[in-house]
Amino acid sequence: MRTISRLTAGTALALALALPAAAQQAPAEPAAPQQAAAKAQQERAREQPGNNAPVWREVRSGQPNYTSIPGRETGVLIQPQARFPGQEAMSTAGEAWRNFRNGPVTFYGGWLLVLVAAAIAAFYFARGPLMLHDKPTGRLIQRFSVLERWAHWTTAIAFVIMVVTGLIILFGKHLLLPVLGYTLFSWLTALSKNLHNFVAPLFIVGLVVMILVYIKDNLPGKGDLAWFGGALAMFWSGKHVPSGRFNAGEKAYFWVGVVALCIALSVTGVIMLFPNFEQLRTTMQQMNVIHSLSAIVMMVLAMGHIYVGTIGVEGAYRNMRDGVTDETWAKEHHRYWYDEVKAGGVDATAPPPGAQAPVQAQH
Ligand code: HEM
Repeated sequence: MRTISRLTAGTALALALALPAAAQQAPAEPAAPQQAAAKAQQERAREQPGNNAPVWREVRSGQPNYTSIPGRETGVLIQPQARFPGQEAMSTAGEAWRNFRNGPVTFYGGWLLVLVAAAIAAFYFARGPLMLHDKPTGRLIQRFSVLERWAHWTTAIAFVIMVVTGLIILFGKHLLLPVLGYTLFSWLTALSKNLHNFVAPLFIVGLVVMILVYIKDNLPGKGDLAWFGGALAMFWSGKHVPSGRFNAGEKAYFWVGVVALCIALSVTGVIMLFPNFEQLRTTMQQMNVIHSLSAIVMMVLAMGHIYVGTIGVEGAYRNMRDGVTDETWAKEHHRYWYDEVKAGGVDATAPPPGAQAPVQAQH
């Protein structure tokens, strides 16, 4: 961008200097054609003043010219032609990326988010939350340690900030600018971008700790395949498929969402956040597309996760808030884990000091 704005500011002067300079820099042999091109350009400026098409053709060719700024690609004013998936015509790579980002990514991604949110809301109003079948016993089991809860909530809060600011950056131009006007929108977007940049390291640290503390209980185990088989029926009928500490749905969220997508988001984000490692513009554009697509899929998964972690399943939110669950909840939702705890295989029977017995559910 910096290169392009410099171009528009002093186009004539910069190009007039740059091209002869390129000729001077070039080794003795290829100097002749370059000198000829410069001469032809001088003649053209006399014969057809204002028509400098050959210069622009050269600029658009993507061939590097002379610049005193060190670094890769700094001598290339405009990237060569490229085409993103679904695009029929070639255009300069920057334009191809911009059209792809503001076209299919925003359009289909935006509608996907809206439709999934609507589907979850429809499910909630049609089916309602999954309730416990039996009354809570009042006996508590430790479900999450303090470290597990800190890792979870640090990452979750950072994630929500990343989501809100990311949505403003991606969709704000279409949805907020017409409502807010330029002044307010530019303030809001600048604030969002800074928050997005500065909360990212907190998200990454939380993510790494979370992966480390949760990985063990998310490894494949007994009952996982059966869970997938019975999951749909379970959500509608409320009849649970027995599982270990985490069921196969939670494990899928862990591996696909938390591990694969969040790592992809972090890596691509860091590459864009620190453009000082000589990344090429093409690399930045590709990272931007992977980042946006991963973010959209992760938001879809997170919507489902947040739904079942709050209003969708009775008692789930309390588990993560207080770290304890009632024996009835453990027995109905994670039968194999409950049996293991009861058999003494897992040290979870002693709830942390101060943990309160759950409020009796309405039946
Ligand atoms: C912001 C709103 C969120 C809420 C309300 C929420 C709620 C919950 C709850 C209640 C549980 C415990 C479920 C149980 O007892 O089995 C849980 C587990 C978990 N959550 Fe969240 N969560 C949120 C965001 C996130 C985000 C953004 C991530 C990842 C980036 C995440 C990753 C996890 C993981 C890894 C587990 C353990 C289960 C598993 O490994 O799949 N959560 N969450």
